[in-house]
Amino acid sequence: MRMYDLIEKKRGGGVLTEQEIREMISGYVKGAIPDYQMAAMLMAVYFRGMTNEETTILTDAVAHSGSMVDLSGIEGIKVDKHSTGGVGDKTTLVAAPIAAACGAKVAKMSGRGLGHTGGTVDKLESIPGFRTSLSQEEFFAVVHQAGLSVIGQSGNLAPADKMLYALRDVTATVDSIPLIAASVMSKKLAAGSDCILLDVKTGSGAFMKTLEDSIALAQTMVAIGENAGRRTAALITNMDIPLGCNIGNALEVVEAVDTLQGKGPADLTEVGLSLAANMLYLAGKGTLELCRQMAEQVLHNGEALGRLVAMVEAQGGDSSVIRDTGKFAKAPYSMEVPAEAQGYVTAIDTEACGIASVMLGAGRETVESVIDFSAGIILHRKPGDAVKPHDSIATLYASDEGLFAAAAKRLTDAYTIGKEQIRPRPLVFARVEKDNVERFS
Ligand code: URA
Repeated sequence: MRMYDLIEKKRGGGVLTEQEIREMISGYVKGAIPDYQMAAMLMAVYFRGMTNEETTILTDAVAHSGSMVDLSGIEGIKVDKHSTGGVGDKTTLVAAPIAAACGAKVAKMSGRGLGHTGGTVDKLESIPGFRTSLSQEEFFAVVHQAGLSVIGQSGNLAPADKMLYALRDVTATVDSIPLIAASVMSKKLAAGSDCILLDVKTGSGAFMKTLEDSIALAQTMVAIGENAGRRTAALITNMDIPLGCNIGNALEVVEAVDTLQGKGPADLTEVGLSLAANMLYLAGKGTLELCRQMAEQVLHNGEALGRLVAMVEAQGGDSSVIRDTGKFAKAPYSMEVPAEAQGYVTAIDTEACGIASVMLGAGRETVESVIDFSAGIILHRKPGDAVKPHDSIATLYASDEGLFAAAAKRLTDAYTIGKEQIRPRPLVFARVEKDNVERFS
């Protein structure tokens, strides 16, 4: 196999064979195929796409580039959840404890922030002492004890994806349906859960900007999961606005805890409950309606919060910050961002909010960047809200005052203020199962 020939074939719209895809991935992981050739292939796939069969083979080849986790040592149905990435998306910290409190087992490997989007592992590491790297024995023990454990991806989980993702990140080839599907599903299949719920974000803060592309991505991923024998479904959720009000690691944990205490923002509460109900449904806990009722019950009676506390303690974290979120370390500096016009917020460029948060230190500008867990943004106005000049639309938090000017400009520019009040769009647009798409709008 000559990589040159494969690039030329894909560039011309050809279909790669199973052998070609598998040899390409193993050659790349071994270092026999250089980055520049793989980058050219990624761009060819970006423009020419892949058939479902090619995407399925690519997913399997990437999944098998490392070890396949065996969760059979954990009793019960294991259910995983994966978001394609958003801004203010702390739903794992809400939905996973709810699912665990209702009897599902959540043994989950999560990622770090990527570009303008946040990552659950970074958020959890804002809890003093919390360990996101556990041995397999420790991981299983935490799931037995708390019903859930969230850790970082082990070094050998789909290593080809790590290499491909880093390359896609710098070659403008992230937002491709076959490449996202193979990236997400390779990790989910390798991580070993019986059921997989996908949260496919759509809108200005997501990698997929349109509903139709998001549904197509969801259908591709659901088919891959089901064909691999995992019960798989997807919700298409709104990322035209940041989820909740808090963006940034410790700030997002605080908002997730508020939500598990029944006093979180309505949008985060709704999406968290929908995801949890769907996780329970996939795990065979009853009809969707029943699963929703169970989810609401454990949210309101405190059992879900209890699971989060149990996980934090079992993973070495200081649970006193969860019991009293006022104890989280605060950023030394804050700044209010004033509205520049009178009217109603009609739109927020959500990706720009994510970038502003990264600029304050909450995410990584480069691979080596060290995250400032206390940095971030609290939004005070969201689409549909009235504003007048000098009202604060957001508070920025940082450890260096010099970071405020550029981030404030980015955030101000992200807001559109108009004369007419808009109606908020749905939070969940559709639910995708094998051979079925249910639309809610
Ligand atoms: N999340 C992933 O894990 N991979 C992608 O390609 C995009 C989002």
